[in-house]
Amino acid sequence: MPEVDSSKGEKKFYEDVPMKTEGFFLKGAGSLDWGMKNRLSRIFNPDTGRTVMFAIDHGYFQGPTTGLERIDLTIVPLMQYADAIMLTRGILRTSVPPSLTKPVVMRCSGGPSILKELSDEQLAVDIEDAIRMNVSAITLQVFIGGEFETRSVHNMTRLVDMGLRYGIPTMAVTAVGKDMVRDARYFRLACRICAELGAQIIKTYYVPEGFQTITASCPVPIVMAGGKKIPVLDALTMAYNAVQEGASGVDMGRNIFQADAPKAMMQTVHKVVHENLKPADALDMYETLKNEEQANQD
Ligand code: R5P
Repeated sequence: MPEVDSSKGEKKFYEDVPMKTEGFFLKGAGSLDWGMKNRLSRIFNPDTGRTVMFAIDHGYFQGPTTGLERIDLTIVPLMQYADAIMLTRGILRTSVPPSLTKPVVMRCSGGPSILKELSDEQLAVDIEDAIRMNVSAITLQVFIGGEFETRSVHNMTRLVDMGLRYGIPTMAVTAVGKDMVRDARYFRLACRICAELGAQIIKTYYVPEGFQTITASCPVPIVMAGGKKIPVLDALTMAYNAVQEGASGVDMGRNIFQADAPKAMMQTVHKVVHENLKPADALDMYETLKNEEQANQD
């Protein structure tokens, strides 16, 4: 039997104050359910609408990638500087302490290694396992124009359906085959297909010509993929341009963990993404932090 409300104080109903009905800060997410919005708000900072996601899932098809040989030693200490971490369940369970409260974006596709046709992927995680690991989003590759295009799209729609059942957003990664042209026309096509078929976040590559047409024609947030290691200034410029041209952040891996000073790189990318730090100033910041880091090691 609940306790009777015996307070003698006057009840306050604030009849003249309309109840606040908040909009939602993220593109295309207004009609999603509460759990989905809450998870998206853990990945994307509600103040800036952007994220710095740290991609370390490379091992799922290419084994111990340079920089990821010992996740426990070199990568876990960097996680606190990211807004979200993108990784496989194997690495999460074996190498990441559960006390880390960063939102997890879990790689849910796999199958072929670098020795085989990469588009030949299947779903590789049960949604129940993703829930057990308290993930904030699930993710997979979609190979538009690839040999197994249809299967990878169907993998995505199944993952989206499972995610919707439990309020977990799906991030589709637009994978590009070796011989495919990486231009705005291709990425507009790939991103739009993924969004039309239900992905709530898209990860795609930056292109110098017409990137804003990709973000404009995609009704959900786009995060920029980092790609192979390039000079620091180029990586910072790419991140800067991407967010200026409509990206809702970045999901970078090699350009962070293969940098000479990965912690400095992550902190600098964070400033570029969330505070619009310009590339030249960002390079200064990186060099300063790098020198401090090295001085502390000596
Ligand atoms: C795509 O193939 C995977 O998600 C990669 O492991 C990840 O996107 C790579 O990140 P980056 O290209 O920035 O190293």
